Amino acid sequence: MARIPDSFLDELLARTDIVELIESRVPLKRAGREYHACCPFHDERTPSFTVSPTKQFYHCFGCGAHGSAIRFLMEFDRLEFLDAVEELAKRAGLEVPREAGRARAPDGEDLYAVLAAAQRYYAQQLAASEEARRYLAGRGLDRAIIERYGIGYAPDGWEHLKSALGTDARRLALLDKAGLLSRNDQGRVYDKFRHRIMFPIRDRRGRPIAFGGRVIEKDDGPKYLNSPETALFHKGRELYGLHEARQASSRLRRLVVVEGYMDVVSLAQFGITEAVATLGTATTREHAELLFRNAPDVVFCFDGDRAGRQAAWRAVENVLPRMRDGRQALFLFVPEGEDPDTIVRKEGAAGFETRLAQTVPLSEFLFAELSADVDLKSLEGRARLAERARPLIAQVPDGAFRDLLGARLAELTGVRTGGTTEQAPPAPVARRAAAGRPAPKRSLVRTAIAMLVQQPRLVEAMDPPYLFAALRQPGIPLLMELIELARERPRIQTGAVLEHFEGREERAALDRLAMQDLGIPPERWPVEFADCLRQLDRQTRQQRLDELNERAEAVGFSGLGEAEKAEWRELQQALRGAPRAG
Ligand code: UTP
Ligand code: MN
Repeated sequence: MARIPDSFLDELLARTDIVELIESRVPLKRAGREYHACCPFHDERTPSFTVSPTKQFYHCFGCGAHGSAIRFLMEFDRLEFLDAVEELAKRAGLEVPREAGRARAPDGEDLYAVLAAAQRYYAQQLAASEEARRYLAGRGLDRAIIERYGIGYAPDGWEHLKSALGTDARRLALLDKAGLLSRNDQGRVYDKFRHRIMFPIRDRRGRPIAFGGRVIEKDDGPKYLNSPETALFHKGRELYGLHEARQASSRLRRLVVVEGYMDVVSLAQFGITEAVATLGTATTREHAELLFRNAPDVVFCFDGDRAGRQAAWRAVENVLPRMRDGRQALFLFVPEGEDPDTIVRKEGAAGFETRLAQTVPLSEFLFAELSADVDLKSLEGRARLAERARPLIAQVPDGAFRDLLGARLAELTGVRTGGTTEQAPPAPVARRAAAGRPAPKRSLVRTAIAMLVQQPRLVEAMDPPYLFAALRQPGIPLLMELIELARERPRIQTGAVLEHFEGREERAALDRLAMQDLGIPPERWPVEFADCLRQLDRQTRQQRLDELNERAEAVGFSGLGEAEKAEWRELQQALRGAPRAG
């Protein structure tokens, strides 16, 4: 796979303010030259997450997460590398070099294209089908909403899509990889979706990655058919309607999780645009994280029946570990025989909003379920409740919410628990970081490496030749590689330097050096760095002189060649007077 040129990535990162980028997703507090926050990548109460504007780099002392703005977007927004690059480029007003566009895994690019073509095809077929349009109208959907969700129609028949889009072997293979074809026992290949209303499932950038198809007539197979898992589609990670919800609102305050495609679309038809659906699966942890990354409040709608409450419980289990402070999970139980689609059609948006205002908070649902078959008046009953609740509460991230759950349990049972208050809180960043600095005794080489990793630009002031390249000490090859890298890529910053070493054993040491406080005031860096290199040069001279001396001891000084003798004198001279560097 061809790559995006490094020079572009450096330029991109140089034009990106990592503090601003992270700040828009995680509230940061200024602390000296850096910024702190509670780490968005693991659960904690005291901030271990630091963002350095000078290094354009983030690092968590708690979980070790770190990287450049690109890495942050990949991890936080869950973007692929190229998508993160494109996102940053958009912010910076840069165009990703065209050759890089083609650099995307060719298959990935083509798969997106074939899925987009399929969506267009289904939309055309919908326009052409009286029956399908009548069906959607009967379900209350108007043209605007059909278009917004890209709803289409797969005609009745075995090979419509296949012959429209699978015009050669390569395209046919792509249709297959996209999950749009089925194969029978005789190996015959045919359209997977037939005579169905088609709901495109889009990724966060709005590209169709899969489809859900609903039968138009009863007894035409399963009511809903979803695309199989493909290279692009993993249903446990996707939420139907999330892209559309994000399009409808620049800052989502709330997301409403419903069960079905039609629920999402119907709510949107009534102006409730923040509904999303899991795709015929229980709410996974990945869903929970995705939901909360997009909105602080999440309302889960479930049927009020037994199956619905069971599904709600599964959601609770997966949501608890994601309940960082500031997040709220709420439950809305729908009367039996109804779903959000039927409710909003009967009661209108106002009616549904009224229900949304009467939800059950997670804590309440949790304790209600746990004590459903428990007699709280008896000691045994209260003990049982405490026993059941404890492991669940322990999963909640450290924070006020966990404390409150513990307090509520204590109130219900008279048993103090929560298990958190006894633990000493982790030391705050400043103290922990201080404990690791200054590095006991950094060798010169390590100091040079640390400075260069933290400020690659230092290389500007130093021109070859580099005597110290010949120094036989650990770290010298790495230092040389860093110098070369920084010279080749004059705009490179810490994060990209580290990423350059991704997958190599030096990486861990470089990460540590990148975070080390060298205790040098910023204005002194160039001087200190130059001094450091001068001392390395000195050591190199000494190394050579020792070598010559050794040889002279073996063969006698007169046994040395003329050039060696001259070199020996030069070295003596260069080293005379100045103290031996150590
Ligand atoms: P429902 O059967 O409750 O359907 O399935 P619905 O959403 O109310 O559909 P309408 O209103 O009859 O059109 C809820 C969801 O469960 C998944 C789908 O995601 C569906 O939207 N499902 C259901 C399937 O994946 N396969 C099925 O056969 C049925
Ligand atoms: Mn329904």
